[in-house]
This record gives sequence, C-alpha cells and structure tokens, in this order.
Amino acid sequence: MQDAAPKDVDRPLADALARITQAPDAAALGRLAEELLGKSGLVGMLLASIPTLPPAERKDAGLAANRLKREIEGAVAARKSALEEAALASERAGAGFDPTLPPAAPRRGSLHPITRVQRELEDLFTSMGWHVLDGPEVELEEYNFDKLNIPRDHPARDTMDTFRCDAEGKLVMRTHTSPGQVRAMERWKPPFRAIVPGKVFRNETKDASHEHTFHQVEGLAIDRDLSVGHLIGAMKTLLRGIFGRDIEIRLRPGYFPFVEPGFELDARCPFCATGCSVCKQSTWIELLPCGMVHPNVLRSGGIDPEAWTGFAFGLGLSRLVMLRYGIDDVRLLLSGDLRFLEQFA
Ligand code: FA5
Repeated sequence: MQDAAPKDVDRPLADALARITQAPDAAALGRLAEELLGKSGLVGMLLASIPTLPPAERKDAGLAANRLKREIEGAVAARKSALEEAALASERAGAGFDPTLPPAAPRRGSLHPITRVQRELEDLFTSMGWHVLDGPEVELEEYNFDKLNIPRDHPARDTMDTFRCDAEGKLVMRTHTSPGQVRAMERWKPPFRAIVPGKVFRNETKDASHEHTFHQVEGLAIDRDLSVGHLIGAMKTLLRGIFGRDIEIRLRPGYFPFVEPGFELDARCPFCATGCSVCKQSTWIELLPCGMVHPNVLRSGGIDPEAWTGFAFGLGLSRLVMLRYGIDDVRLLLSGDLRFLEQFA
C-alpha cells in the first residue's frame, strides 16, 4: 500500500505529458495548462482528495501531487519555448524577412536650449581667456550673503527669498551665482577672469517671467586698474557674441551691495527699431545687472582692494534663452514637456 499513490499518478501523468507535447499553439497550450493545473484539474483533484485518505496514505499522496505538478509545469514551459522557437524560425524562413536590414533607429535626444546657450557662452568666454567655474547649488549662507557684503540684517536679503536647507539657516539653495565670485577669488590668484554658470533658486511666485528655479551666468574679472570702461567693453563683446553683431547698450544706476558703483545694463532691442512686444515698445531690453566689485567682497575673497580692482555681472541666462528663441513663458524651460523640448531637436 506504501507506493500505491505514486504509481496511481504515473498513467495520468504520461497522458498529460503526451497532450502537452502535442499542443499545436500557445493558446491551446494555455488552455491545457489551465485544465491540468487548475482547481478541477489533475493536480487540484489529487490535492483535494488528500484529507479524505487514511492518514497513513496522505504523505505519499502529497508527494505524488507535488511531482505531478512539477513535471506538468516543466513540460508546459518546455513546450512553450519550443512553440516560440518554431514561430520565430517560420517567420525567418518566410518571404520578406531580410536579416541584413538595420534595426529601427533609437530615438535621439537633443540638448536643452539652456545648455546650448550656456555652452555658446562658455566657448565665447574661454576663447577670450576666461575660466569656467562650477559652484555648489547648495551653498553656505556665508557665501550667498555675508561674504557678498549682505549681512544677516541687511534689507537686500528680502529681494531674494531663500530656500533654507537646515534649521539654523547656515545652508541655503543659492539665490544667485554671485557666491561664485568669492569662490573664484579663493581659487585663482589675480589677475584672472572667470564665469560661473548655473542654476539658482528663489521662493518666487511664478509667472511668465519668474521661475523659482532659473539659470544665471556670473562673470568676474580681477586685474589692476579696471574701470567701468573695461566693464562696458566686456559687455559689448558679450552681446556681439550672443547676437552676432554690435548692439548699443546703456547703463542705469542699480543697487547691489556687492558692487560699487552698480548698474542695470540695457541693450537696444535686437528685434525692432521702433518698439515691439519683446521690448515692451521701449526699444530697450533690461539685460543684466553689473558693476565694480565692492572692496569688502575683494577682502572676503582674500584680495587686497588697494592693489586690485574688479568688475562683475550677473546675466539672467533663462531670460536670454527666451530672447534668443522667442519663448514667451519662462515656466516652459524646466517644465520637462517634450512637446516644447522637441522644437529644439
Ligand atoms: C542678481 O542675482 C545679482 N546677483 C546679479 C549681479 C551680479 C549684480 C554681479 C551685480 C554684479 P537679480 O536678482 O537682478 O541680480 O538677478 C539677475 C538676473 O536674473 C535678472 O536680471 C533676471 O534676468 C534674472 N532673474 C531674476 N529673477 C528671476 C526669476 N525669478 N526667474 C527668471 N529669471 C530671473
């Protein structure tokens, strides 16, 4: 009586295996697997009968059911891959199959418009001997404000509502690329010139021309006896590089604690002569703030303001990209919307 149960399944198992090897296609195989392995199939029935058997027979019956299940599952898997291979072989043997055809081309990505313009500016500046510096996006408060002549209680901090990264407020998401000025001073001995492009963050209410995350390019030149004339010359070269021709500029007074004197630089609208929607009918476009580096900032960077002078500028890269490509809403730039991005492919 000991091996009665295993012997009992040999015959139905052999029948089941024979039916599996003859299954003509994947659909028939699926139905057969369901029939054999399902609750009312061979395995299910055997399992269901175990509690009704005398206790001495139950163990063998359980072992037999497991063997049945394992072998049927193995045979179904083997038949499935045999059918798949046969289908592939017949497809390859059929007319019209050309193994020499190249595979479908993968979809290519493209550079983001901000990356493109940033790289153009990097090429322009490096061709004139400027360094490119990458500053940290999570910045020490000291570099974002204090070392730039903006102490804790200074009202200028209100103009850049900040994302703080720790309880004491020692670590902030940088609100501008200007901390790169001090980092550049720490990195290179004067004379030197450097740009610091990158992402900046402000707790802004978003609209068509304001984002909470946007891009700037900081510029800093340190040398002996630099003057506003040098600053104007550098800005004209920058605009020639961006727009491919000479562009008239004007300086208006602008206040930033880290420059003295400070300016807002406007460029003559490159798109019209008499006024358009881009320049709001004024023929001038507010392009970038700039100025002569404040002596306190030179000191923060370990540079003697009696011996050295500097000029700096902070280009709104996101707004420049909008000008360049005629984009009317800054929020599109970092939206990740492929319908927008594919236009620059
Ligand atoms: C600054 O960030 C100063 N650090 C710039 C500077 C550098 C001055 C060196 C002097 C010397 P401001 O907050 O104005 O300044 O921003 C500079 C530029 O960033 C603006 O002219 C504008 O083009 C752009 N910008 C400012 N806020 C936003 C915003 N929310 N969304 C998109 N672009 C912005």
